[in-house]
Parts: sequence; structure tokens; C-alpha cells
Amino acid sequence: MTMPEQRERVVVVTGASRGIGRAITLDQVGRGRHVVAVGRTEASLADTVAHGGGRITTVLADSAEPDSMGAVGDQVLTRCGRLDAVVACAGVHGAEAPVAKLATAEWTEALTINVVAPAQLIRGCIPHLAANPAGGHILLIGSNASVRSPTGFAAYNATKAALHSLMRTLSRELDKEAIAVNELRPGPTNTSLLGGREDSVAASLLSGIGKAFGREWIKTAEDVAAAAGFLLDLPPTGTTGQTLTLNRYE
Ligand SMILES: NC(=O)c1ccc[n+]([C@@H]2O[C@H](COP(=O)([O-])OP(=O)(O)OC[C@H]3O[C@@H](n4cnc5c(N)ncnc54)[C@H](OP(=O)(O)O)[C@@H]3O)[C@@H](O)[C@H]2O)c1
Repeated sequence: MTMPEQRERVVVVTGASRGIGRAITLDQVGRGRHVVAVGRTEASLADTVAHGGGRITTVLADSAEPDSMGAVGDQVLTRCGRLDAVVACAGVHGAEAPVAKLATAEWTEALTINVVAPAQLIRGCIPHLAANPAGGHILLIGSNASVRSPTGFAAYNATKAALHSLMRTLSRELDKEAIAVNELRPGPTNTSLLGGREDSVAASLLSGIGKAFGREWIKTAEDVAAAAGFLLDLPPTGTTGQTLTLNRYE
């Protein structure tokens, strides 16, 4: 385990093992922050840590067990001594089926991982952000699916709509604190969540999205991380309750 320098800002990132969360982790390290990379296993985080130049501490938690996410904030304080920002990025696309076929367990899994887990993560972090004289940031990784509502993805769409509402409510509950609460909607980004199983499948899905939305911007995870970095660089007493959407369309 590496300890941050006393003056280094400490940023927690869930979903740090791959995709957008991994890119945000490494972007934050590049901006001189110490990152607490949250993942399910040490093995899944190993590659991210290997690229972190000794500025990454790992904490294990599973979004399917939200209480483990609720315990992350205290672990960060014990191990790093301060907490400056929380990025809730871990998420699943969930079952692909029309509402008429979605089972209770499929709804429950998506809601637990995409909504309850970030809410519990944040619950556990709020006291430590509020106690930080430098203020703090909470950044939720949402999705335009929350408003575009593509068919066949009702559970995912609903979880991201709930996440937006969580962000809005939190920003108002914390408006007396120096804590900014915002949402970043990446739009189509070339990660395993969008494409996936094989490169050829991913490529055809991504080109389909490009065609369906004219000239949609198909991003890399690093493009999204740069936008997250912009939001996390704003003053904690500045922009709050806002959504930054990286799409060209809708
Ligand atoms: N890619 C896109 O086009 C897109 C568009 C809009 C929004 N987003 C959002 O961006 C976020 C990141 O997605 P991504 O594209 O980077 O997907 P990804 O490459 O599939 O990564 C998903 C991340 O979530 C973690 N995760 C999944 N289930 C978990 C659990 N039960 N407990 C802890 N961690 C868990 C994964 O960890 P493991 O390695 O352990 O599985 C992984 O780090 C998601 O919230 C997604 O909804 C993505």
C-alpha cells in the first residue's frame, strides 16, 4: 500500500478495474492526485495499479453488496488521512429484454449496483468530505439512456434516471457544504459495457450507433476521463447540481 503525501488530494473511484473508471483513475493520477481505486478483487485492479506510479491505494468492495460500498469512506480516511472527491463509476448494463420480460431479480440487480451502491458509497463519504477544509466533489457517472430511453434496456434506463435524481437531491441537501455534486453522461464510449464480448461485435455496435445518430462522437474512455477531470478541477463551492453530457445528439 502507498500512502499519499499530506497535501495530495485523495480521490475515490469505483469501477477502477477497467473502462471509464480505470481511465479516470489514471487521469487523476496524472493530475497529481492520489487515487483510491475501488474494485471487487485485487487481481482485477492490478493492471490499473501497475500504471499508477505508486499513487494508487486499493479498497475492495462489491456494488452487489452496497454495505461494502458504504464502508469505503471510513477505510479511505484510515488509510489516506483525507478525502477530497468521490467518483461513482461502477455500473452494469443489466439484462437486455423488454419490460414485459424483465424479472424482479433483474430489476433488483441493476438497481442495487447502479443506484443503491453509489448512494451508500456517498453516505459513507459525506462526513469525511464535509470535514475537509478544502471542500469536496461527488461525481456520478450517469447516462443519456436516462432520457433517451432506448427500448430493451428499461432497467438500465431507469437506474440512470434514478442516479440523476440522486445527484439533484444530494446537491440541494449539501448546498450549505463546500461539496459540489455533479453528473457526467459519457455518451457512447468504446468500453466492454457498450460493445463487448468480441472486438467485431463492439465495432459493429459502435458503427450502428454512429449511423443511428448521424455523426455521434464515439469516445475513448480517456476522452471521458478528461471531462471528469475538468469537473473535478472546478472549485467545490462552484458548479453543483449539473449534468455534463458529452453526446452530440439527444
Ligand atoms: N460505455 C458507455 O458507452 C457508457 C455510456 C454511458 C454511461 N456509461 C457508464 O459509465 C460507467 C462505466 O462503464 P464502462 O463503460 O467503463 O463499463 P465497463 O468497462 O464494463 O466497466 C464497468 C466497471 O464497473 C465495475 N463493476 C461492475 N459490477 C460491479 C460490482 N458488482 N461491484 C463493483 N464493481 C462493479 C466493473 O468491475 P469488474 O472489473 O470487477 O467487473 C468495471 O470496473 C457505468 O456506470 C456506465 O453506466 C458508459
